[in-house]
Amino acid sequence: MSNSSPLRGKRIVLGVGGGIAAYKSVELMRRLMDCGAFVSPVLTKASLRFVGETTFSALGSESARTSLWDAGDPIPHTRLGQQADLVLVAPATADLIARYAAGIADELLTTTLVATNAPVVMVAAMHTEMWQHPSVVENIATLRRRGVVVIEPEIGRLAGGDIGVGRLASTGSVVEIIEEIFDGSTRALSGRKVLVTAGGTREAIDPVRYIGNRSSGKQGIAFAKAAARYGAEVTLVCTVPFESEPGINVIEVESAQEMFEAVSDAAGGFDLVVMAAAVADFRSKEISPTKIKKSHGAPQLVLEPTPDILAYLGSVKPKNQVLVGFAAETGGVEAEARRKLKDKNTDFVVANNVLEQDAGFGVDTNRVTLVFEDSALVLDLDDKRRIANRVLSFVAEWAGKNGVWSD
Ligand code: C5P
Repeated sequence: MSNSSPLRGKRIVLGVGGGIAAYKSVELMRRLMDCGAFVSPVLTKASLRFVGETTFSALGSESARTSLWDAGDPIPHTRLGQQADLVLVAPATADLIARYAAGIADELLTTTLVATNAPVVMVAAMHTEMWQHPSVVENIATLRRRGVVVIEPEIGRLAGGDIGVGRLASTGSVVEIIEEIFDGSTRALSGRKVLVTAGGTREAIDPVRYIGNRSSGKQGIAFAKAAARYGAEVTLVCTVPFESEPGINVIEVESAQEMFEAVSDAAGGFDLVVMAAAVADFRSKEISPTKIKKSHGAPQLVLEPTPDILAYLGSVKPKNQVLVGFAAETGGVEAEARRKLKDKNTDFVVANNVLEQDAGFGVDTNRVTLVFEDSALVLDLDDKRRIANRVLSFVAEWAGKNGVWSD
């Protein structure tokens, strides 16, 4: 049992929808209770075809409820809705999402959703085709506009053996997002405009070859997703493929020059810029219009510097903008980061040592030091998603304390 969890003592209504992933909400309920939450299970009629009421009654903090019309409690929906600190729906099916978006209150769970002022989290799970259907996409956009947190499904094996996006997010990530909500950070970027760059640039030599680097774009994309989850309107300037998500507008670029143009055009209007891309420092001075032939011998490449996008942004930075740069180093990490902080006029530098095997390029984890003013915050090894969450929470709090975002 975790004593430090922000879920401790919180009342959570756990709504279970009628999807095959309903069996996973048993485990989710246990994890929430392990964190010290008081969990009231509410099962839809359809969910009872997948899971049993007894299981949830036996394991929940109180008996499972399945009906608006239980004897002895004439208004369970208002009681549940008013007392809840959070209503969590897992799995949230296409049907439940549609009913909630339309304000339909036709059974205990939907009535509780309409009757509550507590934050609502919907953990979506359904078949890929359903998830991509325009009605589902629009209903989710509607719910998000109203402040509902929708946790998107993951890619994996689905009912019937299909593989695709649709699988319920892992219990660990759902619990983590709920902890963030109770930590008060989730809407930390609500109404903010955030620009994130991600991936390594490619500098063409000829139509086939380029000078590149090992950046996978994972950390930058994690920043874009975290900012969107925190309520920001995000622009992601990216060199790696990224299927657009609600709240994230993607601009695909390849070279440092293209990234410079995409970023410099709009940079002034952003409250926060996270320059996570690994931008090449040099490019070939000449780009051959045709493939350079091996038979002509080793070519002599003459390099020239690329525009330093971050330094440019630092030089034109408006007062109310927070600028975050990155420093991928192979030694003297903090000193290098501090030098960049000053030279490029950034507010923060996220520094890491790319020689560490479990941090930096390509892997899903990172170990970073957030360097700012005359201080530094060391974040231990963690997955890139959590690193992004923690950096953004910290930066948003710092901006608030320092009056950078005065509105
Ligand atoms: O000086 P260095 O390349 O190590 O700085 C890294 C930081 O500067 C990163 O945030 C990177 O996105 C940014 N950068 C840039 N334009 C360049 C080179 C780096 O914006 N040409």
